[in-house]
Amino acid sequence: MDLNRFSYLSLDDAPIINTTPPGPKSKELLDFQAHNESSAVSYPKGMPMAIKMGKGATIVDADDNVFIDMFGGAGVMAVGNGHPDVLKAAHETIDRYTHTLDIPTDVRRTLVNTLREVLPKELTRIFFGGPTGSDAVEQAIKLAKYNTGRQEIIAFQGAYHGMTGMALALTTDASHRRGLGSLVPGVRFVPYDYSYRSPFADAGEDSDLRAAEYLEMVLTDSHSGFDKPAAVILESVQGEGGTIIPSTRFMRRVREITRAHDVLLICDEIQSGLGRTGKMFAFEHFGDDFVPDIITMSKALGGVGFPISAIAYREELNTWPAGLTIGTFRGNMVAYAAGAAALRFMIDNDLPGHAAALGERLLPELKKLERETSIVGEVRGIGLMIAVEMVRDQKTREPAPELARKIRQYAHRRGVMIEVGGHHGNVARLLPPLVITEKLAMAGIGVIADVVRDIEKGI
Ligand SMILES: Cc1ncc(COP(=O)(O)O)c(C=O)c1O
Repeated sequence: MDLNRFSYLSLDDAPIINTTPPGPKSKELLDFQAHNESSAVSYPKGMPMAIKMGKGATIVDADDNVFIDMFGGAGVMAVGNGHPDVLKAAHETIDRYTHTLDIPTDVRRTLVNTLREVLPKELTRIFFGGPTGSDAVEQAIKLAKYNTGRQEIIAFQGAYHGMTGMALALTTDASHRRGLGSLVPGVRFVPYDYSYRSPFADAGEDSDLRAAEYLEMVLTDSHSGFDKPAAVILESVQGEGGTIIPSTRFMRRVREITRAHDVLLICDEIQSGLGRTGKMFAFEHFGDDFVPDIITMSKALGGVGFPISAIAYREELNTWPAGLTIGTFRGNMVAYAAGAAALRFMIDNDLPGHAAALGERLLPELKKLERETSIVGEVRGIGLMIAVEMVRDQKTREPAPELARKIRQYAHRRGVMIEVGGHHGNVARLLPPLVITEKLAMAGIGVIADVVRDIEKGI
């Protein structure tokens, strides 16, 4: 596979830094924002810049610096910024209609049919709720509760499912929950398979099975303090939690356990879905017969960032009556057209295959940092969902969030944009557009590796 075949989509000579960011034009817009918008604004604090335009896996700032985009709009830009097929579909649609609620249109049918090509045949029904990923999570939980008549939900430590009521209650990061008091009740958390920091580390290689056994215990033991839940929800690969890749046997045990206990399994594919991990959906890594009961989708589904979300679920769950769950912004046809065009491009160009092959090319290069430095705890990745977990000391594994932040800051100054996440905020995360070329990706990780080495030297 030619890993540079999408070079026509990006500005291929990135990074180009003319003025250390933020340059004067960026500064002006940043200042305006700081004085007029909420103190909750976050990304410009880690990556101080104003954006002029995006093209493929590259971003141009207001001062004409050209960045390699290894952030991908937080995992949205699978087909890259400003993808021409997606823009063409959006332009063709916007003059015809934009807002249609859930009344059928030809564009809507095209999106459903294109999704059908990639969804497992067991997930026969698609529901488009509100426009964000959080909306899809809300709908998935509502569907599970409605069908089972049960109220409790089991989620996993390290989970990120969104910022609305139920989605936030399913999200573990204390910084998002602080000061809010009670959230939606009935949510319990159990350990995910995080082999680098497992609470079951004493089990060595089997820590994944112990995590699955814990889930089984809470469902079986009448003294566990858990009521029988409507559903177990988990990310097929945890994203914001630090790009945590569960073992196949952990996920397969979770599937077996949920089935045995008649509990629905919801896989949140909002970040890991649509090619990101080297398969169309990340759950496909866990075997041909691994099929969740409900999945959530958003982010890349809007093509180049048009807001849209959906859930797909099994036929027997299709019991809710018309109007049980509604919402004004469920039918943005520009987003649907963009999504259908993006999916078409992904399928026709085997974008998941490209992500898998490029990920395999990048991972060994980044893995060198585990051996060459003392501050990289673990490099892990699946497709183009890659993480560098930073520690103070490889032996103690003490998390080093300030080092992850420094990587983002210094890489940004040198023209590479990345994300930061993790249980301790100590994970540098790469989520580049899947159309990134080998040339740009190697340049990008070259900058990151240089930055890590410089940080270790105290530069
Ligand atoms: C796995 C997962 N679920 C849900 C969400 C929430 O999506 P949104 O921010 O569109 O509400 C996110 C966002 O990062 C996510 O990564």
